[in-house]
Amino acid sequence: MVSKKVQFDEQQLIDAAKKVRVHAHAPYSGYRVGAALIDDNGQLHCGCNVENAAFPIGSCAEANAICSMVAAGGSRIVAIAAVGGAEDIEACTPCGGCRQSIREFSDENTRIILIGDGHKITSYSIDEMLPASFSLKPAS
Ligand code: THU
Repeated sequence: MVSKKVQFDEQQLIDAAKKVRVHAHAPYSGYRVGAALIDDNGQLHCGCNVENAAFPIGSCAEANAICSMVAAGGSRIVAIAAVGGAEDIEACTPCGGCRQSIREFSDENTRIILIGDGHKITSYSIDEMLPASFSLKPAS
């Protein structure tokens, strides 16, 4: 499925991810992550990482932004940006689980936007991030 043409601004998405990162609940790792995505309705959804004293039930910023999109009725990610770091923003590439979560709602046009070292903005397709990925055909 190909995304409808939805315009987005890379810098605006990064800024939204930085803004939500402030709310990260990361008392155990100290690593705060913010994620912002634009869906196929042109809607912005944000998420931050939410850790828990029972470590395995903590959740990642990207996954939380995706949950927000789905709850609002969005079904495709046009672009998603993530920023993270223990103190300042550093290069923060999505973990394996988040790549699979992004993949579920991506197509070949979806952009995954990251801040690299030196704060350069780079973007990737899901195939670059997660080659030969697992998928299932939805049941009809
Ligand atoms: N984290 C994310 O939120 N997204 C990622 O893609 C990588 C890791 C969070 C999980 C945990 O709260 C902290 O960063 C350190 O791993």
